[in-house]
Amino acid sequence: MTFSIRVLARAKLTLTLRILGLRPDGFHDLEALTVSIEDPHDVVGLRVRAFVGVRLSMTGRAAPGLPTGETNLAVRAAQLLLVEGEDPELPGPFAASGLDLTVHKVIPAGAGLGGGSADAAATLVAGNRLLGFGLGDGPLRDLAARLGSDVPFCLSGGTAWMRGRGEVIVDAGPTDPFPLVVAVPPFGLATPDVYRAWDALGGPRAARSCPAPSAVAELVGGELANDLEPAAEAVEPRLRPYREALEELAGAPALLAGSGSAYAVPVASPERAAALAEEAAGRLGGVAFATRPVGRGVALQGA
Ligand code: C5P
Repeated sequence: MTFSIRVLARAKLTLTLRILGLRPDGFHDLEALTVSIEDPHDVVGLRVRAFVGVRLSMTGRAAPGLPTGETNLAVRAAQLLLVEGEDPELPGPFAASGLDLTVHKVIPAGAGLGGGSADAAATLVAGNRLLGFGLGDGPLRDLAARLGSDVPFCLSGGTAWMRGRGEVIVDAGPTDPFPLVVAVPPFGLATPDVYRAWDALGGPRAARSCPAPSAVAELVGGELANDLEPAAEAVEPRLRPYREALEELAGAPALLAGSGSAYAVPVASPERAAALAEEAAGRLGGVAFATRPVGRGVALQGA
């Protein structure tokens, strides 16, 4: 019997994001082509513990300041799984057990890269496997949607359209990997603030677009745009100067990731991505990752 498991939890990147309107529940209807990216990623570990309950400890350069209690989405995912996963008629060998979680945190919070959602999706997948619950894709997706709008995408991963409030996933892959840089400024944004600003601004469309990499050009009609960009740049005045400086370094347009604060810049080669990532972090502060789209959001470590 196995008592522990480790999985990679990869960041998500919206390549293009349209907001179709405000919903009666206060959320926004979206249409976003989204990919899992190789980096940044967190590593999530789960270990069975003999006592009921969930404990989380975090390490890694993006961990300082993040909550490790009940407000952490990975903790909530583990709690939800423990309640909903076990068949009450046929309790398994772990019926009276709990989980110790570890998250090695590299995905910056407040960057629009779905870091908390990735950890939650990884916890669902790993916990389901470790505890032998045998939940299929459908029930896992339902649990994911209860945790947050981005968790279902992180669960399925790859290349997909996110619709509804984000929880409706339409697979669009596979996508040929293309090199890009994800550059994260030394400040973050709170997603609810950005959506509220979008409402206050009267629901603007993206003010600019950039040419799509050929791997996804057909899917998106040739251009990438993010309707949240004007709202994010209104909420955080440091965002636009950061983007302009990044574009200057890159010699190419940068596009906001989700509700920000990270930007993505598709580039010509992995070598160019590595050089630009180093330069962006060194000259602009924050962190930057040379990366590419990958086919899975959650992966057993080493798989
Ligand atoms: O679903 P999640 O908890 O990740 O959403 C965080 C916040 O982002 C919501 O409380 C809401 O303010 C905003 N949001 C939205 N429309 C969406 C997704 C998120 O307004 N489709």
